[in-house]
Order: sequence, then structure tokens, then C-alpha cells
Amino acid sequence: MRQDKVYSRVCISVILGIAAFNLLGAARRAWNVQGNGSNAVQIPLNAAAILDTCHSLNFKPGPPPDFNERKVSDRFVPGTGPVLIKNATIWTGRVDGLEEIVGDLLLDSGIIKAVGHIDSSLLAQLDNVVTVNANGAWVTPGIVDLHSHIGVTSSPSFSGSSDTNSFKGPILPWLRALDALNTHNDAYRLSVAGGITTGLVLPGSANAIGGQGIVIKYRPSTTRAPTGLLLENPYSTNTTEYDPGKAFRWRQMKHACGENPDRVYRGTRMDTTWAFRQAYNKAREVKNAQDVYCSKALAGQWAGLGDFPTDYQWEALVDVLRGRVKVHTHCYETVDLDDLVRITNEFKFSIAAFHHAHETYLVPDTLKSTYGGAPAAALFATNARYKRESWRGSEYAPKILAENGIKVVMKSDHPVLDSRYLLYEAQQAHYYGLPSNLALASVTTVPAETLGLEHRVGFVKAGYDADIVLWDSHPLTLGATPQQVWIDGVAQLKTPTLAPLKESKHLQEPPHTPNFDKEAEVALEYEGLPPLLPSHSKEGLVVFTNFTSVYVREGGKILEVSGLAHDEVFVVQNGKPLCRGPMDGCTAFTRLSDATFVNLQFGSISPGLVTYGSALGLEEISAESSTNDGYVYDPLLGDIPAILGKAPVIRAADGLQFTTRNALLAYRAGVTTAITAPQTSGILAGLSVAFSTGAEHKLKEGAIVQDIVAVHVSIHHQGVPSISTQIAALRHLLKEKKHHGHVAIWADKVVKGHIPLVIDVSSADAIATIIELKREVEKETGHALRITLTGASEAAVVAKEIADANIGVIVSPSRPYPSSWEDRRINPGPPLAPQNIVSTLLSHNITVAVGVPGTWQARNTRFDIAWVALDARGSISHSEALALASVNVEALLGLTSNEAEADLVATQGGDLLGFEGKVVAVISPSRGIVDLF
Ligand SMILES: *[C@@H]1O[C@H](CO)[C@@H](O)[C@H](O)[C@H]1NC(C)=O
Ligand SMILES: *[C@@H]1O[C@H](CO)[C@@H](O)[C@H](O)[C@H]1NC(C)=O
Ligand SMILES: *[C@@H]1O[C@H](CO)[C@@H](O)[C@H](O)[C@H]1NC(C)=O
Ligand SMILES: *[C@@H]1O[C@H](CO)[C@@H](O)[C@H](O)[C@H]1NC(C)=O
Repeated sequence: MRQDKVYSRVCISVILGIAAFNLLGAARRAWNVQGNGSNAVQIPLNAAAILDTCHSLNFKPGPPPDFNERKVSDRFVPGTGPVLIKNATIWTGRVDGLEEIVGDLLLDSGIIKAVGHIDSSLLAQLDNVVTVNANGAWVTPGIVDLHSHIGVTSSPSFSGSSDTNSFKGPILPWLRALDALNTHNDAYRLSVAGGITTGLVLPGSANAIGGQGIVIKYRPSTTRAPTGLLLENPYSTNTTEYDPGKAFRWRQMKHACGENPDRVYRGTRMDTTWAFRQAYNKAREVKNAQDVYCSKALAGQWAGLGDFPTDYQWEALVDVLRGRVKVHTHCYETVDLDDLVRITNEFKFSIAAFHHAHETYLVPDTLKSTYGGAPAAALFATNARYKRESWRGSEYAPKILAENGIKVVMKSDHPVLDSRYLLYEAQQAHYYGLPSNLALASVTTVPAETLGLEHRVGFVKAGYDADIVLWDSHPLTLGATPQQVWIDGVAQLKTPTLAPLKESKHLQEPPHTPNFDKEAEVALEYEGLPPLLPSHSKEGLVVFTNFTSVYVREGGKILEVSGLAHDEVFVVQNGKPLCRGPMDGCTAFTRLSDATFVNLQFGSISPGLVTYGSALGLEEISAESSTNDGYVYDPLLGDIPAILGKAPVIRAADGLQFTTRNALLAYRAGVTTAITAPQTSGILAGLSVAFSTGAEHKLKEGAIVQDIVAVHVSIHHQGVPSISTQIAALRHLLKEKKHHGHVAIWADKVVKGHIPLVIDVSSADAIATIIELKREVEKETGHALRITLTGASEAAVVAKEIADANIGVIVSPSRPYPSSWEDRRINPGPPLAPQNIVSTLLSHNITVAVGVPGTWQARNTRFDIAWVALDARGSISHSEALALASVNVEALLGLTSNEAEADLVATQGGDLLGFEGKVVAVISPSRGIVDLF
């Protein structure tokens, strides 16, 4: 037992009468001579210290034995008063995440004092108790993020302070994330507002061994210094010499395999694996030398023993071999997982978690053959296909892994995903089949256990850290938002501005998610690449029954059909709606006996959604240029090849690829149309196209919805050319009368207001300049420009001016993040501000739509718009939410749709706007088909 070993040093010191504490660096050459004459054995003067060192090599990490008896947390902030949370529904994390307690919760001295029934004698001992009435709302432990780069990657990002990756070689176990942990980062406050209380900050993945991670809490440090954020960090954060009188704490280490480590030295997987083996062989040599040395020292064979062998550079890796480091391995593909597993067996160390781990669900047995047992798999929910390694990533991975007994963690890799929304990853995992107890555990108890901190975080349990989140709705419902977050018993939201939820009763239960068993099976059968192209319904007639809502397009708006009878049917013939009403009424139109019946089980029929903002249709794997259309020539950065003529305007329609996986997944999630502009790194992108995400190729009927939609430009900070130069180019485009070639045609249409000018822009200052330019041009020409801003993270700063200028906005992403300087003035929304960016713009009567920046995100559009409505606390109706990703996008981009011909989407079990509905059909009048999934 560890406890015995801690105290054994005292015994040894007493026996030898030496009180030296000085250990690893202490092997000074001083000797005691015991015995007489030729039989004398030389015992070094610091023998006790050496023996202590030898004993301490076997200490296992963990809390001190009396940890559970603590009355005050080591992180207690003096002056923090007790808090009594009354009438909460508490998910404790215990009993495999199945325990729920309705009762009270007492926080004091930085720890949870009592859960459930609070003894009045306990309360009587406390002064100034702050009472919070939860009114039955859910309470969970604080969210634990197993994979973050918060603090080491700056937000907003600064080129001079990218401390994520060292480029000094593949093997760097001696580096420490702590040494780069910056407390000035906008993300801490935002993440706390999402309920994140603890996180593992890791070095990046550009090295095979990138260095040591650090566990922090996210509340501001009382000293303002990074060390004030640390949670139970190992002795090595502060000293070289371990004090065996103290508990040995877990260390954390980053490893990475596959593509990313190649960046540092342009190697191959073979080189990376050799780098690992060489490093571990070195560590093994040091460890073996220590073990041989200590076995002799402990046997009293001091003769010729010399100094304790150690190596400052390799000591952390030696600790991995001693089982005292949680190893976190960024590893995606089967080949890489297998490499790492073999290395663990060769060198006998275990891995705490494979991170990203997109193919782990395909090889659970490989994971189980890891030395020391299967690592946890730390995943994204739906972020995949961005590089080859994530190509086979599946939304069913959490479900499949859990079914195979592998521990599932959902993680952010912040800022890759904004950790503020880490709970959303667990919610999506739940939607796609991970049981609710495991979904909540995946961001609380399991990461706590994976870090070796399950004795104090990740659970709501007496004696644990007072890291608590009080939610506004069940934490697995979409948009669940903290009403308050306590870290170490300190309330983090100063003035939480959370209006009550409109439909709060319903939202206090976990959503009844659809069944995806079949889909998960097929994902496995096809090794992550199940066929996605739908087969069209063979029968001409399809009858939908049992729907509880129908939304229709009418006059450029979405309206909910009122007065639906419970027995209504919706009959579609060759893709065209034929009849809606009671069955009897519809049989008058046609014989229904040959029809395919689809029971929507309280589902819904709504307009197909439209996505804008990403390269959907122009790329397959974003990091693989061979799979993508590529970038247009930028006239501001270089000469345009003569063969293109003087001033080409590029059409996205010419580069379209159909049946990309992201497009088909979007289609299967109710996003039936995409509008995509050519990709540019400069100012002039070109002409966008609207296409059907479910079409097989361009020449199929209805595949191209509109071949030219709008003219697209982009104004972003890029150093050279400056923002002002880009604006000058835009001014020239709009004001010069004698343009050449194609630019002349399209500039003329823009200036006359015949086609929208879509400007991708973030900064409120650039937006203000665009507003001025619009006035200037309109004054000269007498025509109104049709301008739409996209991206627009800072738009709320100039909302009134945007409204006055009659400009529309496509907010993309819909939950902006201050990733760069030009995005820093975001509107953070609830619980940090009463309104989010979309509702702020809407309240100014601006036409607003929602877009996505990444192709993988298009499928999540339905959740994005639902979330916008939930955040608006009832001021945005379901119809208005649907409009944000349909008619409003079309109006803002100039897609002229024929309302009768527009796609419809049928959902089963619920509607598009939540985690209960599943898209089961697309009805496409223009393509003359019904696709059943
Ligand atoms: C707890 O809150 C629920 C929901 O508001 C309420 O119905 C119930 O009466 C409350 N219980 C107590 C003991 O106050
Ligand atoms: C570092 O060491 C000093 C002195 O022992 C101690 O007061 C402090 O708490 C330590 N800091 C950390 C982060 O361990
Ligand atoms: C409606 O759904 C219920 C429950 O699934 C089912 O029993 C009933 O037959 C359905 N009605 C129709 C018309 O499909
Ligand atoms: C928005 O439009 C509504 C209805 O036309 C009007 O009452 C309101 O004052 C407008 N708000 C602003 C900020 O213009």
C-alpha cells in the first residue's frame, strides 16, 4: 500500500539516525565506515536519503491517506461563505452515473459538505449561508475537459504567443505546458459560462512526445498567477526533489502519433514509431540502472555503488515506466493505435486515453491489448473527416465503444472546439446512442478518473471539491445553460442573466432520442464508410402519418400549420405533395392501397434547410488538397494568368463535387440545399452556386438549384494586403465605371442591386466602413446595393447601423468565439448576456440567417438554429428558427425559390429542432423523388 511506503521513510531515517531529506540530487560522496579492519563496509553518509529515494520509486500516485477527512479544501478561498442549494435534482455521478437525488446541497470551505438531506445541526454551525433555490432544476458536478489547450494557445490568437507546439524535435518529455500557461485568455470566462470547472491543458500534437500536461481549475486565480490555477499537480512543478513525506501526485504526459508529429521533422509513421522506441529505450536504461542500484542499496551492498543513477532530462519518461504518469495519446487511425499498443507492451507502460481516437470504435480488441488495460477513448461527437485520419470517424463511435466496454470521454481539444460547449458533445453522443448515464459521465466522472482525480472532482459527493453546476434544463437537452457555476465553492457568474425557459417542464427530462442501432451496425460493417447515397422510394405514392406539426413556406416566411387533426395524413406522389388532411379526404384523390406508409410517430414535416458558409460541395477532406476544388487566384496577391482573361469571375458551380460525405450527411440531417461560394484566401471569391446536397451528380434533374446566386468578397485581417487595401479594392470594384471582362458585368449587376454582394467580414470596424462605402456608392448611382454580411462575429456592436443601412447578416458560426482579434467583441449570450448575437440582430429588425464555417458542421444546422431559439428564451418561435436556415438564407443570398417546388423534410419522434426527432425522409418536388432513410 502506498500509505505504508510514505511512512517507511521515517523508519529508515530513524534507524540510521540521519534526517536527510535531500534525495535525487543528493548522492554526495561521503561515507560512514561501520565495522573494523579489513571487513569494514563503507556506508555513505547520505545512505538514508538514498534509501528514501529507492523506496519512493515505488510510490503510487494518489491523495494522502487522510484526504477524505479534510474539512477545508487546499484550494479554499478565504472569505468564501457557505452556500445551500435547495430542492435540486442532483446527478451525482455515482452508481455508474445512475444515481439521482432530489434534495439539498451544502457547500462550505471549498468542499461539498452534504448532499440530499442536510442536517439542521450542520446548518446551525454556519454563519451567513447563501441559499439558492433550485426549484427542482438539475445539478451536476462541474464539467471536466480531458483535452484542452486553453492558456497555451491564446484567444484571441497572437502570432507572437503560440505556445502550443515546440518545434525542437519529436521527443520532448521534459517540456511542461505549465511553463506556457497564460492566464490572460478570453476563453476561461467563456468556458466557465458553459459549466467547465476543470481541464487538462496539454502541449500540442506536433511531437511524438510533446511534453507534460497540467490539470487546472478554470476560476481566476486569487494571485492572478498560473500556479494558482493548478489542481494537485506533481512535485515536479516546483522542485526537483520529491519530498517522500508528501503524497505523490499523478503526472500527465502528451504523446501523439500519425500525421501531426511529422510536422516537426518531416518523417513518416515509421520514423515516429522509432522515435518513441528510442526514447522509451533510453528511459528503460535509466530505470533499470536505478532498479539495479536500489536493489543493491536496499541489500546493504554499498561497495562500489557510487551515485544514484538519474537523468534530469529523462526522469519524466522514467516515471511513465514506473506507472506514475497518465499518458494521453493523440492517435486516430488503426495503424497508429496498433503501433502505440505494441510500444506499450514492449516497454510495459499503460495509456490513460487515446485522444481524437476516430478509429478506436473499429478496433476495441486492439485497445484491450494495451499494456495495463484498455485506455479511455476521448472523442469529438460529430467533428470528423477533416483529414484522412478522421475520414472514418463516426457519430456512433461513443455508443459502439461503450457497448464494447471501453470508457468514453467527450473532449474539446479547445480551441478546436470551444470548450464552453463541451456538454454539447456529450449531448450529441447521447443523441446518437450513448446511454444518458454514460453521456453525462463522459464529461465528468470518466475524465476525472482518467486524470487520477476521482477522489475530488467529477462527482457530487460529500467531501469532494465544491465544483457544481446548476443548469436551466436537463444537461442532455439541447442548449442546456448554467444558471450558476461554483468552483471551490466560489460562485463564478457574477450576474447570471438567464430568463426562465419557455418550455421548462418538458426540458427537465433527458430527451427520448431516436434508435440508431441499425446505423451503428452499418457503420461497423463498412469500417466507418457506410453508403450514404439514399435510394429513392420506388413507389410513386408515399403516405406520412402521425405527425404533430407541419411547417410550410409562405410568402418568404415559415408558418406553422394550425389546427392539425391527429389523424391527418400527408400524401406525396412522385415527390410532389398531393394531399394533406384526414385519410378519407385524401383517398378521394388517389388509391392509397399501393402506397408506402411512413409512421412519423409524433414527428413533423418541415421545409428542407439551406446551409451557407462552408466549402460544402467544393471539398471532401479539408486538409487534403487532392480532394478539394482549391483556392481561386487572388488578384490582390499576384498576377492572374493571361489564359483567364483580364478579370475573371470564378463560378463555384464549375468546381462542384457531388456526393461528398459531408453533403450527404447534411442531406440526411434535413439540410437539402447548400449555397457555396468559391474558396478564397484573398478578397474576390466569385459567384456562388446553390445545389441539392442529395443529388448524385450535376447533370441530374434538380441537382443545380441555381447556378449563380450571389457575388462574394471577403474582408479579413491578413497583414498584406491591409484591410484598408482590401476596402480600396472593393471601392474600386463598386465605383470604377470601366472594368474589364467579367468583372465589368458582375460589378454592374452589383451596383444596380440586381445581385447581392456578400461580404465575409468579422470586425465591427470593417463593417462600419462597409456601411459608409454603401452610402457613398448609392449616393453616386442612385441604386440600392443589396449587401449581406457573413461571418459577422462582431456585428452586434453596430446592429443599429446595420439595420439602418438595410443590410442583412448571416451569422457564421451561430455561437461565435473570439479566435482572432477581429472576432474579439462577440456577444457571449446567456448566461453572460441576456441576448445572443442572432436575437440581438433580430431585435433590430435585421434579416438574419445562420451559417456554418466548416463542411462537417452543415449536418448540425438543425441543432444550431434550435439553440438560437432556446437562447432567446421564447422570443424566437420554431417557425422563426426554421427561417434562420431556410427562407432567410435564400433571401439574403438571392436564391429565388419556387415555394411549391421546395424540398420538405419528414422527421420521426420529434421535429428538426431537438434531440428527439430523426430525419426519415426528404420530399423533393423539383427532383420528383422521395428519399427514405
Ligand atoms: C421543488 O421544486 C419543484 C419544481 O419547482 C416543486 O414542484 C416542489 O414543490 C419543490 N419542492 C420543495 C420541497 O420545495
Ligand atoms: C511551490 O513551493 C512553495 C514553497 O514550498 C509553495 O509555497 C508553493 O505552494 C508551491 N507552489 C506550487 C504550485 O506547488
Ligand atoms: C400512429 O402511431 C401509433 C403508435 O406508433 C400507431 O399505433 C398508429 O397505428 C399510428 N397511426 C397511423 C395512422 O399510422
Ligand atoms: C422592429 O419592427 C417592429 C414591428 O414592425 C417595431 O415595432 C419595432 O419598433 C422595430 N424595432 C426596431 C429596433 O426598429
